[in-house]
Amino acid sequence: MSKTVRAHGPATVANIGCGFDILGAALNCPGDVVTAREVDSPTVLIRKIEGDGGKLPLDPKLNSASVAVSAMLDALDRPCGIELEIKKQMPLGSGLGSSAASSVAALWAVNTLLDNPFSALELVPFAMQGEKAACGTAHADNVAPGLMGGFVLIRSSEPPDIITLSYPESLTFTVVHPHFELKTSDARRVLFEKIPLKYAIKQWGNAAALVAGLIKEDTDLISRSLEDFIIEPQRSTLIPGYNAVKEAALKAGALGCSISGAGPSVFALCESEGVATLAGEKMSAAFKAAGLSSDIYVSSVNAEGPLILD
Ligand code: HSE
Repeated sequence: MSKTVRAHGPATVANIGCGFDILGAALNCPGDVVTAREVDSPTVLIRKIEGDGGKLPLDPKLNSASVAVSAMLDALDRPCGIELEIKKQMPLGSGLGSSAASSVAALWAVNTLLDNPFSALELVPFAMQGEKAACGTAHADNVAPGLMGGFVLIRSSEPPDIITLSYPESLTFTVVHPHFELKTSDARRVLFEKIPLKYAIKQWGNAAALVAGLIKEDTDLISRSLEDFIIEPQRSTLIPGYNAVKEAALKAGALGCSISGAGPSVFALCESEGVATLAGEKMSAAFKAAGLSSDIYVSSVNAEGPLILD
């Protein structure tokens, strides 16, 4: 019988406010599960997708998971056929890194199936190909933390220069997902190509200070740095009730609050699970006042990244 491996790929919070396309963190929940099976014919196929309401492409050239696995197999000098089954366990177009969770789980399962020819870091460029298929841009700030775990800094994605960061263990995310879909491609299209120098200076000060705050475990510095002068003002108009949701998170004691990835989910970074839970409830109530129901995910930082399930 052909060998089968099942892997879990985590949800991720990309950007972390001030680090558009260069910072991300992995969550413990939610996440997608992908089963990979070696087959005789040297192709990559998607056998089935569950939990997507029929929205995701089964065409292996279009799905982030199969595109990533094909890129990986192309880099190996050995013919090999793979069949994938994808179980979506998170909303699509949510800002939780849904396409990345599937491609990370698929890559991890296939890498294990083939006796680990690649390290997590080496898998990142393949997963980036999956992102390109999903949203048109090969950004790494979901797939890199998804594969490597923890907080990740992308100094450069081409060629990849990716650094894992230490962070205070008590940090806990609340991610509140209002029930509507926002495609990453659409949320990227609204962004201006040019930014005023005065905002760029503030932004790179904050991004650098956020990295320093994480490494130094200085929660006051983390809190001061979680301010996005460039992307949030442009994208927040796409999220009904955004200002009230953010105010609710900060009032509940969050260190900071911003858009998770391309949105529409909003994250709050908190010093404890208690604060994160309260912030999530208050943020969800603020979304409700704006006419949107929502789901709340409270999660500590996932240090491991993907997981083999059996
Ligand atoms: N950095 C990307 C963006 C993340 O904000 O468009 C998308 O998940």
